[in-house]
Amino acid sequence: MTAITYELIKTCKQTGARLGKVHTPHGSFDTPMFMPVGTLATVKTMSPEELKEIDAKIILSNTYHLWLRPGSDIIKDAGGLHKFMNWDRPILTDSGGFQVFSLSKIRDIKEEGVHFRNHISGEKLFLSPEKAMQIQNDLGSDIMMAFDECPPYPASYDYMKASVERTSRWAERCLSAHQSPGNQGLFGIIQGGEYEDLRKQSAQDLASLDLPGYAIGGLSVGEPKNIMNRMLEYTTPLMPANKPRYLMGVGSPDSLIDGSIRGIDMFDCVLPTRIARNGTCMTSTGRLVVRNAKYARDFSPIDENCGCHVCKNYTRAYIRHLIKCNETFGFRLTTYHNLHFLLKLMEQVREAISEDRLGDFKEAFFEKYGFNQP
Ligand code: GUN
Ligand code: ZN
Repeated sequence: MTAITYELIKTCKQTGARLGKVHTPHGSFDTPMFMPVGTLATVKTMSPEELKEIDAKIILSNTYHLWLRPGSDIIKDAGGLHKFMNWDRPILTDSGGFQVFSLSKIRDIKEEGVHFRNHISGEKLFLSPEKAMQIQNDLGSDIMMAFDECPPYPASYDYMKASVERTSRWAERCLSAHQSPGNQGLFGIIQGGEYEDLRKQSAQDLASLDLPGYAIGGLSVGEPKNIMNRMLEYTTPLMPANKPRYLMGVGSPDSLIDGSIRGIDMFDCVLPTRIARNGTCMTSTGRLVVRNAKYARDFSPIDENCGCHVCKNYTRAYIRHLIKCNETFGFRLTTYHNLHFLLKLMEQVREAISEDRLGDFKEAFFEKYGFNQP
């Protein structure tokens, strides 16, 4: 019995993008889908009720952060992460691999795992495939990610090859340590940087484990967008067609469309929530920095074309004022709008796939949004 299954509904005749459905123990969601990030068991500033209002179907949380605070034992005692945070829809947890590499400067990578220092207290810690699985089993997420290494960009071929091989061995250990395959699905993470043969090796190693889904990691780490698109074009055809494909850490509107066109089904990124707290909004005509002085007397909504609760009720001038004064309500309003914008964008992508016109949709969207804006 596998906890996660994928149903391919159709592919777009114009682009090859996939319309599908992922089934989990906490319900199903349509793909391509964007997953808001709730690192510390909260999507910053959003209540679960508000997330449902904007139709979020699945959120992501982090093994590493919840292990440090409050501790996975506490969340286990609460009855799991869903109960702890009052979210009854699907949850995906990242394994901690990436966070160890991005947050901790001092680390020592060994075959058995990674020794590093807590980025808050400086305390010595050790994370391994077995430990990452035990924490994720305690959290009870629907989708667990294998413990991987995401090398920095650029990395040498020799380093990347050794790293990919270790990540494959770690994925095997994750699978052996998995305590609840009937309730939680383990996804493998394909690495290999910008090296096609290593991407292929990684995809093949992981496919042999017959996991219920696969992610592409190690992209959007500073490489140019054309390299990312080229790696996606190369890698997605090597991934099993009957399993979901997840592109990690990608969430700019243009990349969500470009990734969907290359056969990606799931995405996550802190971008919409992070820039929101900085006073930046995603709109149908590109980025809008609502904290700018030119909006001081602008009594129109963030986006005239947006139907969200924020755009129906609040003005740029008001939101600018709140954000300038560091009022939490301002951050709530921009976060709500940005997440609504991306979830709506993915709904439009799915509709375009179902009508075989994602290519036309992309052209019209890029034209309006401004081509190279992140
Ligand atoms: N988030 C963004 N990229 C990655 C990656 O390569 N690995 C993991 N575990 N998480 C990520
Ligand atoms: Zn809005």
